[in-house]
Amino acid sequence: MNFSQRTAWNLAENDLSRAIRSARESGRDLIDLTVSNPTACGFHQPSNLLAHLADPAAALYTPDPFGMTTARSAVAAYYRDLGVTIPLDNIALTTSTSEAYSYLFRLLCNPGDEILAAHPSYPLFDFIARLDDITLREYPLHYDPNADSHHSWSIDLAALAATITPRTRAIIVVHPNNPTGNYASASERIELQQLCRDRNLALIVDEVFLDYNLTTPQPTFATDAPCLTFTLSGLSKVCALPQMKCSWIVTTGPEALVIEALARLEVIADTFLSMNAPIQHALPTWLGQRGDIQQQIITRMRENITTLDTRLEQTSAHRLSMQGGWTTILRVPRTIDGVSFAAAALARDVIVQPGDFYGLPEGRAVLSLLTPTDIWRRGLARLPID
Ligand SMILES: Cc1ncc(COP(=O)(O)O)c(C=O)c1O
Repeated sequence: MNFSQRTAWNLAENDLSRAIRSARESGRDLIDLTVSNPTACGFHQPSNLLAHLADPAAALYTPDPFGMTTARSAVAAYYRDLGVTIPLDNIALTTSTSEAYSYLFRLLCNPGDEILAAHPSYPLFDFIARLDDITLREYPLHYDPNADSHHSWSIDLAALAATITPRTRAIIVVHPNNPTGNYASASERIELQQLCRDRNLALIVDEVFLDYNLTTPQPTFATDAPCLTFTLSGLSKVCALPQMKCSWIVTTGPEALVIEALARLEVIADTFLSMNAPIQHALPTWLGQRGDIQQQIITRMRENITTLDTRLEQTSAHRLSMQGGWTTILRVPRTIDGVSFAAAALARDVIVQPGDFYGLPEGRAVLSLLTPTDIWRRGLARLPID
């Protein structure tokens, strides 16, 4: 059987995954500081969460490529709360942000065309790009430990511009980025928009973590813009409901480009019609209730950061500055007694994510701020940093 080249992945388990698996199989009680599934972190969703899936109206099939009007209105209301007005025609629902990326890659790219994404950033881009036969190119983010938290991470705009080739079609910005937790600053936003306008590129802005800021609220990119802009978000983070599979794309920018993009996007969405009715009927209620779960998560994030900062005093590790998002990065010793930091932590029954998973340099560990506070304390106490 000949399988496609694009699926010829190296599926071998890496050393750390193998070590974690065998530790679990041998019955060791591991303390996992990387759990990022919000449904497994002890947060409370309303007890009638699933009741909204039983709306009898969902018995009727009313296909709409971009999703039902009532569901899109709920997304528009979310943006109204952020201070922007989005016409319903500019909102397209998808089953995940990953699906949204895939639609956009197919809208914008021919096979072999290029999309730029930050380094370090979210590792799933590699997979989506490869499945859609496009090439992902990276532009660097720099970290300045001496800058204030709003400017500690910055986009190397000169390097980004130098990465653009005649085959480049779009720039992805994750706002705030995962795992670095930095939002694009006001000046970066302007420069990115101008660059995209001047070089005829689209801007794809992933705002799934937008609401989880620890400093001051940062504005959405889903507003008037000088370049074609696709803003992505969805329930997996906004409502901490990844299992419900509901995301969206908001298209903004110069009118003629928006009209052309939406017409083409509509055919892509119509080809799959992937949204299901019960979720769309439940969406207005779930989105309307997001304040409570977001508050629980932000409270957890703050508490975990306070605990972490206390734990790191007088140790060999320190926390990189961040503005928002669900992860935090530690600067840690590269190796301890000849093994990697993550392996040394595992030897003490603690799971941390090595930074290289996200393209961070050696000596970085990534932790999930969603970790339940008691597990967080126990895990941090055991980290090999003293
Ligand atoms: C930056 C970023 N975008 C998108 C997603 C996934 O969103 P979805 O569940 O809607 O595909 C994640 C998940 O961690 C993420 O970190």
